Parts: sequence; structure tokens; C-alpha cells
Amino acid sequence: MNLPKSQAEGIANVLTEALPYIRAFHGRTLVVKYGGAAMRDEALKHKFARDLALMKLVGMNPVVVHGGGPQIGAVMDKLGIPTRFVDGMRVTDTATLDVVEMVLGGRVNQEIVALLNHQGGRAVGLTGKDGQLIRARKLKLTRPGAELAAPEIINIGHVGEVEAIDARVLNTLIQAGFIPVIAPIGTGTGGESYNINADLVAARVAEALQAEKLILLTNTAGILDAEGATLPKLSVQQAEQLIAAGTVTSGMLPKVRCALAALAGGVGSVQIIDGTEPHALLLEIFTNAGIGTQITAAGTETA
Ligand SMILES: Nc1ncnc2c1ncn2[C@@H]1O[C@H](COP(=O)(O)OP(=O)(O)O)[C@@H](O)[C@H]1O
Ligand SMILES: [Mg+2]
Repeated sequence: MNLPKSQAEGIANVLTEALPYIRAFHGRTLVVKYGGAAMRDEALKHKFARDLALMKLVGMNPVVVHGGGPQIGAVMDKLGIPTRFVDGMRVTDTATLDVVEMVLGGRVNQEIVALLNHQGGRAVGLTGKDGQLIRARKLKLTRPGAELAAPEIINIGHVGEVEAIDARVLNTLIQAGFIPVIAPIGTGTGGESYNINADLVAARVAEALQAEKLILLTNTAGILDAEGATLPKLSVQQAEQLIAAGTVTSGMLPKVRCALAALAGGVGSVQIIDGTEPHALLLEIFTNAGIGTQITAAGTETA
């Protein structure tokens, strides 16, 4: 049966609109951070996996780094372990670290791998321990002290930051046609484990792979200004001002900070998008009407 003319035109338009993006990103690496909030809805998860499988099929090299805050929180509640956050980072004692390793490295990671494989992708799950992908060190969080006082050092336990990324295992997987799916757990020089904010890992992985784009999926329409309106485009300077002004706080802080670091490290552009929108990734990658907030070194538009 033939399509009605108007519908056929619509479909043809969508496909031709995608063409320049398919060409621009062919053979390029795109690092996608998949956040906890966008991971809770079943239908959304399948759409995300489809989008990613499509990216791979048309010749892009997507790499996934995932969080899992809500999933960790749910297990913590079941076990009766209290949860606390400082500046968007989970305070991680030894009991919490066990839960993080089990939930992130096990359940959540393998669920994403299974979803991608179900959509025809070939996904391989790993934590930062595999192939010594993520070398980590303890994160030292400080807060400015009052007036002349020294900065306050806040101990948030087994929370790490990335010291170095060894991308060899990723390059091997990408070259062989696999989609790497990374749980943000790193190893210290003494073999100890660290829970690392997934945004930080995604940014460092993007830098190590010199990715064309770093896409952070979250649960807001992008970076919001003080009035709650989405900011479509930001320069590095504008983003720094938003942090200084206290407009960017909590979970958005590590995102914006690491976005700036990634850009300084050579990543083409960073996009913060609403992962609770169906097919957010597809719309961002394949259409003219990109969504969310784009941060670029110059604040000018890129593909
Ligand atoms: N200026 C801002 N714009 C958007 N979100 C912000 C801003 N400042 C703080 N946030 C908070 O950051 C949250 C996103 O970070 P987080 O909760 O860690 O989610 P994710 O699982 O995606 O990492 C938002 O839901 C919002 O509550
Ligand atoms: Mg977060």
C-alpha cells in the first residue's frame, strides 16, 4: 500500500535532514552519559537503546558511560543505609561502596548491555577496572573557609576522581564494532575501588578518545537560567558565570564543570539534554533542531 502523499513527504524530509549529520559523524566518536533519572522508564530505555543502535549502524562510534543514582538509592533504602550528597557527589562509606559496585557494575551495566543487544547493537559492559580503563584517586572536596580561615576539607569517603584513562580497551572494542558501556568505578594505585561521578568519567573518556561530541542525558530540559528557562547555547565564559552566580548547583555542577574541562581538552562540543524526552538522542544527533543546552569553546554553533 502506498503512503498518503503528505505523510511520504514528511518521512522523506526527516530522512534527508538526517543525511548531513550521518555524514558529519561518520567514523566519529560520540560519548553519551546516560543518567539515572532517564533510566527508570521502561519505554524510554528501549527508545534510548534503539537510538544508540541506529547511531552505530550508520557508522558512528557511540560510547556509553552510565550513572545509576536512583537505582543505587533504591537498594540503599532496602538495606536501610542512609544516603547523603555533598555538591552532587554521593558520600560513600564502605557499605555504600559495596552497593555502588554491585548495582552499577552489575545490575545497571548489564541491563544497558542487554537493551542495546536486543536492539541489534553489539554492546560490551565494563567498569573502569577492566583493561585498567580508569585509574582513580580520592577526591578531595573543599569549601572556601570564612574570611581568613583555611578552606574546609570535606571527606566524602570512597569517592574518586579520574587520574588517568587508558583508552586501549575502548579503542580495541570500537575498532571491532562493539559499543562499550562503562560503569564509573575506578581503581587506585593500591588496588582500592572508587565510586566516581559518571559525568566526570564521561568527560575524561571523551577527552581520551578526542570525541566529536559529549552528550549528557539528564532529567531537566538542559541548563536552566535563574528564571527556569532553558539556555540553548553557552560559551565557556557564560557557563563559568552561571556557576559563579550560583545558578548551577547540585547535580548540574559536576556536569558543567566537566563539560568545561572536556572542551579545554579538545572535545568538539558538549550537549546537555533531557533524557526523559522520548528519543532525545535521536533528535539531538539527526535533526537541525538540536535540543537542550550546547556548550562550545567559542559559544558558536557546531553540528
Ligand atoms: N541551573 C540548573 N539547570 C538545570 N538543573 C540544575 C541546575 N542547577 C541544579 N540543577 C539540578 O541538577 C539536576 C541534574 O543532576 P543529577 O540530579 O545529578 O542528575 P543525573 O542523574 O542526570 O546526573 C537537575 O535535576 C536539577 O535538580
Ligand atoms: Mg548526577
